Amino acid sequence: MSDSANSVAEVIRSRRTICDFELQIPPEETVRKAIELATWAPNHKQTEPWRFAILGPKTVAQIVELNTKLVREQQGDKAAEAKRDRWRKIPGWIAASYRRSGDPLRDKENYAAVCCAIQNLLLALWDERIGTKWSTGPITRTEELDELLGIDAETEQIVGLIWYGFPATIPKSHRKPVEEVLRKLP
Ligand SMILES: Cc1cc2nc3c(=O)[nH]c(=O)nc-3n(C[C@H](O)[C@H](O)[C@H](O)COP(=O)(O)O)c2cc1C
Repeated sequence: MSDSANSVAEVIRSRRTICDFELQIPPEETVRKAIELATWAPNHKQTEPWRFAILGPKTVAQIVELNTKLVREQQGDKAAEAKRDRWRKIPGWIAASYRRSGDPLRDKENYAAVCCAIQNLLLALWDERIGTKWSTGPITRTEELDELLGIDAETEQIVGLIWYGFPATIPKSHRKPVEEVLRKLP
């Protein structure tokens, strides 16, 4: 394999979902470059359905308060305050979404394409030593979050919040041996 193929393999293999970030916010320029790289994902019919938003402090503060409210309703004050403290420490925020077409098959393909783009994004950031968590908690399915992000649910759907920052700790992960997920057919 060439050196570059080896480095792609290394980035793919070593990337981990990060829960614990340093406080420093990574440079926006690096994030913008990673988003541009993300858009080189495959996409059927060249729909380029992905949309990304880099969220500034005002929007993040609104999201944190919305989530605190949701957690308070479900789990009470103590859990809500703990979540608020944790979410306030997340350094960088991106919202990922895709444009809906109204055709269920095309939307399935558009969802697949944006997921490919998100993986590109996670890898491009990891290659810059920036860790991420792709989060799909209950808040991502609320009308309030759509409204806060200026998303019209008729034409666009949130696929996740991508938290990013320099990792404070990098957890271990594991995968099944490939023989368990691969079969060869005659
Ligand atoms: C569609 C999708 C949604 C995810 N949502 C969450 C989430 O809401 N919370 C979370 O902690 N991790 C979430 N993750 C990250 C997974 O938990 C993580 O990828 C998995 O534990 C494997 O770890 P790794 O990414 O380090 O290999 C999500 C991943 C994907 C692909």
